[in-house]
Amino acid sequence: MHKRVDRPLFPELMDGALPYLEARRALADLDRVNRLLLGVGAARRTLARRLAAEAAPERPVALLDLGTGSGFIAREVARAAGRMGCRVRVVGLDRRLAHLVVGRALAGRAGDGQLRVAASADALPFRDGAFDWTVSNLLFHHFGGLSNQAILAEMRRCSRRGAAVVDLRRSRLAGWMIRGLFPLLGIGRVARHDGLLSIRQSWTLAEVRELVAELPVEELRRRFPFRWSLVVATANCRPRQSSAGVGRDHPRSLAAGSRPKPSASTTAATIARSIARAASTPTWLGWAATSPRARVTTRSPS
Ligand SMILES: C[S@@+](CC[C@H](N)C(=O)[O-])C[C@H]1O[C@@H](n2cnc3c(N)ncnc32)[C@H](O)[C@@H]1O
Repeated sequence: MHKRVDRPLFPELMDGALPYLEARRALADLDRVNRLLLGVGAARRTLARRLAAEAAPERPVALLDLGTGSGFIAREVARAAGRMGCRVRVVGLDRRLAHLVVGRALAGRAGDGQLRVAASADALPFRDGAFDWTVSNLLFHHFGGLSNQAILAEMRRCSRRGAAVVDLRRSRLAGWMIRGLFPLLGIGRVARHDGLLSIRQSWTLAEVRELVAELPVEELRRRFPFRWSLVVATANCRPRQSSAGVGRDHPRSLAAGSRPKPSASTTAATIARSIARAASTPTWLGWAATSPRARVTTRSPS
């Protein structure tokens, strides 16, 4: 059994209920840190090309971002794939509804086109293969081995192509950098506290390798300066040969080939139905879609 399986983890401040303005400041700080310390680049390099490889003229590529926070990382990844000619439909999922609300607010008046869902990463309210890819950024270090294995299993269950994870790599140097650099950058109390705790609780590459030894790993590598990326294929992963082929191989997918050019509202409705069907999940689901017309809130009957 992996030595980190039972390690107790300390909760980050952002894992608790913060006043709205503090959560907003913390997520905006995190976006800045992701940008300045090359976190965006790590996620982009891990996923953008892979998304672009799934591009098809008749439908957008579906991406689920777990622990999405503000949604900034998923937005940047989608933008990078867009520059390669790939339309990406992003669903951002987070346990804290407040973070989704902040993310929507930070996206500004025009919005970012993302659908936002409040649920837990270890019990995803989606059908098998509902997305092309699933991704998480800075979520892995929140959990021990068993939880991460459960989350990876959910990510793989819900994706047709694969699951990508990007997170911090534990190192002394990273801790010193955060201590020295964050105050200079004007990073606030919450992000400073959580940043240091995150580095201490993060995983080394060797620990991740041991944890995923049984999985079909496509990529596990360092990402400069302080991150690693992991890409795991799904159980029945069959890389796309032609767009029509994927629709037929995955009749229950969001991307059924028989539905050319689904509109944003069609996609929203499909995912909303999927959530409603998964109402047995003992969790509260808040749905904040980008269009006010597509906004749905559903509560499990339990
Ligand atoms: C450090 S933030 C990272 C946010 C974003 N991915 C980024 O890189 O900027 C971690 C996020 O994961 C969310 N989170 C923590 N545990 C979760 C869980 N079990 N299910 C879904 N989201 C979770 C937190 O609410 C928080 O928004």
